Amino acid sequence: MKTLAVVLAALLVSGGGRRREDGYELWLRYARVADTARLAEYRAAIRELVLTPGEPTMQAARDELVLGLNGLLGRRVPVADAPTRDGTLVVGTPANSPAIAALPLAAALREAGPDGFVIRALPVRGGGHHAIVVAANRDIGALYGVFHLLRLLQTEESLAGLDVVSAPRYSLRLLNHWDNLDGTVERGYAGASLWEWARLPDSGHTRYRDYARANASIGINGTVLTNVNANALILTPAYLVKVAALARVFRPYGIKVYLTARFSAPLEIGGLPTADPLDARVRAWWAAKADEIYRAIPDFGGFVVKANSEGQPGPQDYHRSHADGANMLADALAPHGGIVMWRAFVYSSEVPTDRIMQAVDEFEPLDQAFRTNVLIQVKNGPLDFQPREPFSPLFGAMRRTPLMMELQITKEYLGQDTHLVFLAPMWEEVLRADTYAPGPGSDVAARIRGLAGVANVGNDRDWCGSDFNQANWYAFGRLAWDPMLSSAAIAAEWTRMTLSNDPRVVRPVVAMMLASREAAVNYMTPLGLAHQMARGHHYGPGPWVTGGRADQTSVYFNRADSIGIGFDRTPTGSNAVRQYFPPLRERFASRDSVPDNLLLWFHHVGWSERLRSGRTLWEELLEHYQAGVDTVRWMQRTWDGLEARVDADRFRRVQGFLRIQEAEARWWRDASALYWQSFSHLPLPPGYEAPGHSLDWYRQLHCPPDPRKPRCDPVTGF
Ligand code: GCU
Repeated sequence: MKTLAVVLAALLVSGGGRRREDGYELWLRYARVADTARLAEYRAAIRELVLTPGEPTMQAARDELVLGLNGLLGRRVPVADAPTRDGTLVVGTPANSPAIAALPLAAALREAGPDGFVIRALPVRGGGHHAIVVAANRDIGALYGVFHLLRLLQTEESLAGLDVVSAPRYSLRLLNHWDNLDGTVERGYAGASLWEWARLPDSGHTRYRDYARANASIGINGTVLTNVNANALILTPAYLVKVAALARVFRPYGIKVYLTARFSAPLEIGGLPTADPLDARVRAWWAAKADEIYRAIPDFGGFVVKANSEGQPGPQDYHRSHADGANMLADALAPHGGIVMWRAFVYSSEVPTDRIMQAVDEFEPLDQAFRTNVLIQVKNGPLDFQPREPFSPLFGAMRRTPLMMELQITKEYLGQDTHLVFLAPMWEEVLRADTYAPGPGSDVAARIRGLAGVANVGNDRDWCGSDFNQANWYAFGRLAWDPMLSSAAIAAEWTRMTLSNDPRVVRPVVAMMLASREAAVNYMTPLGLAHQMARGHHYGPGPWVTGGRADQTSVYFNRADSIGIGFDRTPTGSNAVRQYFPPLRERFASRDSVPDNLLLWFHHVGWSERLRSGRTLWEELLEHYQAGVDTVRWMQRTWDGLEARVDADRFRRVQGFLRIQEAEARWWRDASALYWQSFSHLPLPPGYEAPGHSLDWYRQLHCPPDPRKPRCDPVTGF
């Protein structure tokens, strides 16, 4: 009896004290600093807080510090009007903080610019107290600085000699939500849309503020609320008041709201007989609409537009160019300081040219034709967010028009919610790629003005559908602030903030994250293959997909035949290489110099041809598929080894998803290898892991309809 009581009491205590690691807090958990020496250092360095919370952004900074320091230091830090002792944290701008105005920070603040911040350990006037100063030119910079300081504490960095000046590389750091007004999310794998349109504007979910906090913590400063496949209703008064309500919540966190503009809106909600961008009535309608939007949302950011792409309306419906369409909207927004982000994701099944070449053919002649408040938004690769593509040649071709790069955080083609795939290595690869436009040393990062990330956020409790998917949201924001950050550094920060600072956790988890993208490339589309997934939902393998629109089928891209596999894009084929600047053009065109990881993107290669490795193409392909599966198994073993060091909630969740990933990596490997074998007629090498099923079995696999997403189960055979 006594023993039972003791056990129950122990359970109650541990249950009561245990954090629920349900993922809601993201990387802003603010758990007590575990390293006792660091904790003592931080407690001594931060004993009071001096911050004038007059404006909403400064109030947000103060709220975050109170929350963060309470959690990290495990005690309340009192707020004072002016430094009274050693160990003061002073936060503000020269305008709102007399203490900061008195410090010699002018040069550093110039470097910090409008959004950046300075963090320094130094003595402040009024008694010569030692202080940490977070200073900025604008309130938003102070908030970013606060998040940076909290990150230093979360990652247990030393505060000794603190001297940071940080400014974002890009002024546009945007999430693009592909959210529909009915609450569904196109390519969303984390539940329904966050935006509860029916309840707005009167009722606002507390999540809106936490969403804004999370974004501000990584420097994101804009959100496009609606799907690129747009609905004109968002531009009606009934919706604009709702948008304004969201903008009010986001504003203190420096986040501007943007909307997608449906090109045919003048017809659909304006009662006009046309949406021709050169028609005076249409132009007047958009100008009046922009005035109306800015009356409701004075800091509205502007429009994102998908036009004449995959069936969306656009200026070409009226025989006008993309520039005519974009400029009309730009003219409507210009008096208010708004911008247009016009997407370059265009391809037509009526045009015989290789699909991946059409965007350059369409847009390059228009370089110089766009208004100054238009940016062309270009996906990272010329196709569509594949596990690996070369960078889009538009980054080199558009030399005068400002560009945005669009990345897809939501992993439509990379295992969606379940597969652990850390995307920073992929983004690092494209940001650092040299376009050679106009000569060497012109990397993609230097060619763009901002990053847009297709959000992976929904109303799931954990926001992103899985613990590790959160790391991709985090990495996107960090790279939009500083595109030269390394994937390894970002992974380490995220792991320390989210999971643990214990090096026995950090090292293996970072290693898993860094290996994960190449693993997915290997088991899905190795050696430069692309677009080999099942039709429609894009989950699982479908290299045999044919029929319907040719340029959306797998066979269009793999070109497998009895001779070999791969798309000849050299001058003997589609000549897509011509869209790259020399020497890339020649490098990609030659079998001797094309990188192995893009081989089949640019070349049709014989099954038995020898590659640089000495293996035949057939052997090399099989090696890569197997390597993908092996890496996932290694990730499983690595994770299993962390059972004692990671909380049970997250340990089990990740373990379960890795189990799915391993089964599905085999599914990709076996379905692909068997399909290629039906062309190569070559045997699987002795000792190669035998496929689980026949090719017919994989081809006949049907995905059961799922309210969240379709998922085929390659094990039970759904
Ligand atoms: C992909 C995606 C679509 C999306 C499109 C786009 O093709 O599958 O859902 O609408 O990209 O970026 O416009």
